[in-house]
Amino acid sequence: MISIKSKNEIEIMKKSGEILACTHNKIKEAIQPGITTIELDRIAEEFIRKNGGIPSFKGYRGYPGAIDYPASICTSVNNQVVHGIPGLEVLKDGDIISVDIGVYYNGFHSDAARTYPVGTISEKAERLISITEQSFYEGIKFAVKGNRIVDISAAVQDYVEKNGYSVVREYVGHGIGREMHEPPQIPNYRTRQRGPRLEPGMTLAVEPMVNEGSYHVRLLENMWTVVTEDGGLSAHYENTIAITDGEPIILT
Ligand code: MF3
Ligand code: CO
Repeated sequence: MISIKSKNEIEIMKKSGEILACTHNKIKEAIQPGITTIELDRIAEEFIRKNGGIPSFKGYRGYPGAIDYPASICTSVNNQVVHGIPGLEVLKDGDIISVDIGVYYNGFHSDAARTYPVGTISEKAERLISITEQSFYEGIKFAVKGNRIVDISAAVQDYVEKNGYSVVREYVGHGIGREMHEPPQIPNYRTRQRGPRLEPGMTLAVEPMVNEGSYHVRLLENMWTVVTEDGGLSAHYENTIAITDGEPIILT
């Protein structure tokens, strides 16, 4: 069952998303060569809590056999795709880092990811980041009532592949609200299922994960961190959006 949010609930999610967007700004300012990913985690957690939120990811239930997620944010560097765990790793000039953040506020989650440059990065890394970001916007052009999920998926895939990159298959976007992961799934590529029709009041996390090489990924031994199989770079861009009678609203 896809939950439909009332105007009031969407206002709460907007506030949740606002805290999240400000947290991203804090993180963006803090990123520079020499900082560790655990320091970024600390900055994010403090800021979220100071603003009345709770980090959605902390303690999130992992796959059977995995530890519960131990940090407040995900930090995925270079060939890491998603779910990198903050730690003592020091960021260096030329790295790219995908930062994924979830905020729980007043009963509702919001979820958003960005890939940031560390210092000065290569032109090819810059291009990967901007194509990934733009693929989100290409996708949500189709996030209007009456369309189906697959219309978003296809637009993301076509834009990414036209630009010479690939979209990750194993991980997908999702509905979001009282739970961080709600139905429907939102793949970033065409699937046989066309998905449900979009209706006003649906809130969705649309999140293209884009690889410069092949779309194949591998899970590290920590059972969380996902890396590209070929070692190529990967970027991530995600926002929580609300479907309306007209254009979608970006809540984050
Ligand atoms: N945005 C990610 C997702 O939708 C965040 C999950 S990280 C976790 O899957 F730690 F919470 F699992
Ligand atoms: Co998400």
